[in-house]
Amino acid sequence: MTATTMRAIRQEVLGGPEVLHATEVERPTPRANQVLIRVRAAGVNPIDLKHRAAGMLLGAPPFVLGWDVSGTVEETGFGVSALVPGDEVFGMLPFPYGNGGYAEYAVAPARLLVPRPAGLSHAEAAALPMVSLTAWQALVETAGLRSGQRVLVHAAAGGVGHVAVQLAKAYGAHVIGTASTAKHAFLRGLGADEVIDYRETDFTEAVKDVDVVLDTLGEDCTERSLRVLRPGGIVVSILPIESPAVYREADRLGVRVTWMLVDADRAVLRAVAELAESGTLRPAIAGTFPFTEAAEAHRRAETGRTTGKLVLLMD
Ligand SMILES: NC(=O)c1ccc[n+]([C@@H]2O[C@H](COP(=O)([O-])OP(=O)(O)OC[C@H]3O[C@@H](n4cnc5c(N)ncnc54)[C@H](OP(=O)(O)O)[C@@H]3O)[C@@H](O)[C@H]2O)c1
Repeated sequence: MTATTMRAIRQEVLGGPEVLHATEVERPTPRANQVLIRVRAAGVNPIDLKHRAAGMLLGAPPFVLGWDVSGTVEETGFGVSALVPGDEVFGMLPFPYGNGGYAEYAVAPARLLVPRPAGLSHAEAAALPMVSLTAWQALVETAGLRSGQRVLVHAAAGGVGHVAVQLAKAYGAHVIGTASTAKHAFLRGLGADEVIDYRETDFTEAVKDVDVVLDTLGEDCTERSLRVLRPGGIVVSILPIESPAVYREADRLGVRVTWMLVDADRAVLRAVAELAESGTLRPAIAGTFPFTEAAEAHRRAETGRTTGKLVLLMD
């Protein structure tokens, strides 16, 4: 390793977790308005798995995955004055084209990073950005969530879901979450008012008069969720809605449906950091892995059963 190189988890081909491997690559240099972060922890998200397997928005490898990071500012680029080397920061690298968090160093626009909240470890901070930005942009910005509204969160024990439950509670909503029974105590601990085991109960029969549904599952869940809304209510999906029939059905029922893609936003991340600092929002860590074991973390994530978040730790 020289001063101009670093270790990263890279892939040369698309495929299963085994395509992820530690290698020595060129260390990025921060350009104007960017900083170089010494990454201490990198969050693992399902979108990482999808890019690893199918390329998706990134296209063909080679590439280094990872958007969620927590670490220390190592170097600042031309024009950066708000951050200095040594600052402890966290954030989401620009999604989708700013990837590169599974590495010892990553570059990010200085304006997308905020100070790591006091009381949060690097692992906890790295767990938060993508799922919090997603939950906020879906519930607060897209659905316009207000106090007293009824919110249904699908896969409420997952990465996005467990943050969405806490955020909706912080907004004064009545929160209903779906998860298997073993996770109901966890959801109650997050503040969920009602919990449904989706394996035993059809949520469309157990829930009604909902103002906002956060659909984290897609496929038929999107259209089925329309049925539990009150007139004017909204389903916000975080999976693409492929079928025009879903929109037609929403029109027929007098409800709304849309989907959204997460985007980096420092103002929202700052608000998230404040909620974390006050203890209103706590990330749950399902497991941590040395970053050289990224493939193992992906195997675990691929079960689709994790409670909270998986995080890679740099040494
Ligand atoms: N549009 C965007 O910008 C955006 C942003 C972030 C994530 N996403 C996508 O959103 C999805 C969810 O992400 P995530 O990070 O929350 O995933 P995750 O952490 O992997 O979700 C795992 C959870 O899903 C639950 N689950 C699985 N099937 C379920 C079902 N049928 N009903 C209820 N719960 C179920 C599991 O609970 P049980 O063990 O109880 O089944 C588990 O706790 C992914 O597809 C991801 O790619 C999109």
